[in-house]
Amino acid sequence: MQILVTGGMGYIGSHTVVELIQSGHEVIILDNLYNANIDVLDRIEKLTGVRPKFYEVDILDREGLERAFKENHFEAIIHFAGYKAVGESVRIPLTYYKNNISGSINLYEMMDKYHVDNIVFSSSATVYGDNFEVPFKEEYGQGDTTNPYGTTKKFNEIILSDFALANKDISVVNLRYFNPIGAHPSGLLGEDPKGIPNNLVPYIAKVATGELDHLNVFGDDYDTIDGTGVRDYIHVVDLAKAHLKAVEYACKHKGAEVINVGSGKGYSVLEVLHAYEKACGKTLKYEIHDRRPGDIATSYADTQKAKELLGFEVELGIDEMCRDSYNYMIHNLEDQKNR
Ligand code: NAD
Ligand code: UFG
Repeated sequence: MQILVTGGMGYIGSHTVVELIQSGHEVIILDNLYNANIDVLDRIEKLTGVRPKFYEVDILDREGLERAFKENHFEAIIHFAGYKAVGESVRIPLTYYKNNISGSINLYEMMDKYHVDNIVFSSSATVYGDNFEVPFKEEYGQGDTTNPYGTTKKFNEIILSDFALANKDISVVNLRYFNPIGAHPSGLLGEDPKGIPNNLVPYIAKVATGELDHLNVFGDDYDTIDGTGVRDYIHVVDLAKAHLKAVEYACKHKGAEVINVGSGKGYSVLEVLHAYEKACGKTLKYEIHDRRPGDIATSYADTQKAKELLGFEVELGIDEMCRDSYNYMIHNLEDQKNR
């Protein structure tokens, strides 16, 4: 089927595009390249033998968006486009609300106008907030978000559910991702944020390549196995495969669903650090610091609903996640040297 992937040049989007093409779907990417590089298109082509049609368009640009809808016949949409930095969202909340909410509403209005009925939305485990016991279950609903980014995810879930409630043809799957890490095993796709990374694995990756001296561990006094924060990490290739299943599910059902996408297992910061040391064959330095404001002790998914509705289970573990992350970093460093 013909699928529009907004934000398809980004980290999770590009991996998903590869899985979709490899499963025989026709993909059209729409991305403003705010947080992605045009090279990704060559890499997708290298991996799949197909160069997807690409619209360099901002979802806030209604005319550009409409052009993509007029020129194609989308059967479904996977909506990744958005800003995602938690700390930045606290500093510039209006920019986050405008991009992630106004931009998304533009997209949903086009769906309505051009009768595209099926959508998968990138939500986040952050919508559970600190209100519930682990493992987080979809039936808990939404908790109190602690930053504007999280609130944009919460609002989008509500907007899409109301859209489906008002229109019996609409099918929505809100996927609540836990912590996506890793990279494509080819080393061609991955995540290497500019500047100092906010997230754990991109930070550890830069310690492993020598770009940063040591990891700052935010808190060792949580009620967890070793006192450091516990998260449910999922390999980005597994997450991409969950999108393939979710979009196929959306096309066969109506109404709105919320589905967790995680492994169901939690790893502490130090456990991840040690797994990365194994992957890169080096000892990595770390220092214990105060807790990071807004962090919770433990987050991991109840994965039953993903199994039941999508037939989805993760295939890759923490060792593969760290191996593929490091492989991507090494590939990237070589690429930069050769430029
Ligand atoms: P990413 O930044 O790599 O990808 C997002 C893509 O959207 C980028 O290519 C960017 O250029 C594009 N984009 C941003 N604003 C746009 C706009 N106005 N118009 C068109 N394109 C625009 O991020 P990612 O990690 O791949 O995340 C994808 C989605 O998943 C995001 O919505 C994010 O909030 C969500 N999510 C990510 C995580 C995570 O840890 N990575 C966790 C939960 C949810
Ligand atoms: N951590 C450190 N040092 C660092 C970075 C992180 O000790 O330099 C710790 C954090 O305190 C936390 C764990 O590593 O205990 C994971 O932190 P991340 O920043 O990698 O991930 P979060 O769980 O805080 O947040 C991520 C995304 C959010 C998303 C959330 C749930 O950044 O966008 O997962 O999906 F909402």
